[in-house]
Amino acid sequence: MKNLIKKLTETSSPSGYESAIREVIRAEISSLSTNIKVDALGNLIVTMGKKTDKGLRIMIAAHMDEIGVIVSHVEKNGLVRFSNLGTILPQYLVGSRVVFLNGVRGVINQDRPDDLHKIMTQDKHFIDVGAASDKDCPLKIGDVGVFDRGFVELGKRVSAKSLDDRVSCAVMIEVMKTIKNSPHELAFVFSTQEEVQSKGATTAAYEIEPDLAIALDVTPSLDIVGVKMQVDLGKGPAIKVRDVGMLSDPRMVRWMEETAKKNNIAYQLEVLDIGTTDAKVMQISKAGMPTGALSIPCRYVHSPSEVLDMDDVQATVTLLTALLNSPVSLE
Ligand code: CO
Ligand code: ZN
Repeated sequence: MKNLIKKLTETSSPSGYESAIREVIRAEISSLSTNIKVDALGNLIVTMGKKTDKGLRIMIAAHMDEIGVIVSHVEKNGLVRFSNLGTILPQYLVGSRVVFLNGVRGVINQDRPDDLHKIMTQDKHFIDVGAASDKDCPLKIGDVGVFDRGFVELGKRVSAKSLDDRVSCAVMIEVMKTIKNSPHELAFVFSTQEEVQSKGATTAAYEIEPDLAIALDVTPSLDIVGVKMQVDLGKGPAIKVRDVGMLSDPRMVRWMEETAKKNNIAYQLEVLDIGTTDAKVMQISKAGMPTGALSIPCRYVHSPSEVLDMDDVQATVTLLTALLNSPVSLE
């Protein structure tokens, strides 16, 4: 599992440019289904099983894109100005490295601050690729890149860029490998462009027309700063109750909690004040559907060094497998 997470997080694929990660994932799952397709927005959709009279058509989504940077301007002196793909937080920029899809690497720094201790806005930052002038610069407007940061183990925890949401892609791959005799038709979607408002899950849900939907994503664990949204690392997956974009169907929350209890899986409940997931768009696709989400607690989300606990990853695999292996009764 760690090796799979390493492989997935060390692939560069920002929103809208998911072909590299899609091919890595496709190689992992190609023997598991004969029904694999890529839709117009680049979603990788893998269907497994047939809907029995006890079953439903269930869509499970994990996004394969990651946040990134896009060149907006090259200065005369060769320094590169950039815009963001998804939410880039300025406090993580100075000293970060980026790698562009054309292989060019660069380091990020900022204009001279009035106050050395103030975090400056993103437009006051630049990427230095080692060019002495604009003519010499190997990047042009529109080139895209991602944080350049390898995977490391920290005891039983791990750190990497893009754990949001490659860890959920790894969970989904693991569940696809272990699931047997599900009464459901399962449509596993490795979705695109989640970080730019869930574009991929929008079209995938429209196409699949599920009876029920589950999103898998990370949730910021703020256990280290003690704010009111409390999800701890190492205490199990969080069953989403609410985030900024969605209220989970309470029947889904109950079903998830009961399944966790029945299988002795540690879980937490999540009420999130920042961000949302693919569940937001699935819930209101076409005529709508019961929708919920499982969140893997993660520290420093959207930084180049996100951190999570492998016990939570394993527990998420176990809970999702248990959810999908039995008939669903929503009451
Ligand atoms: Co994100
Ligand atoms: Zn995410």
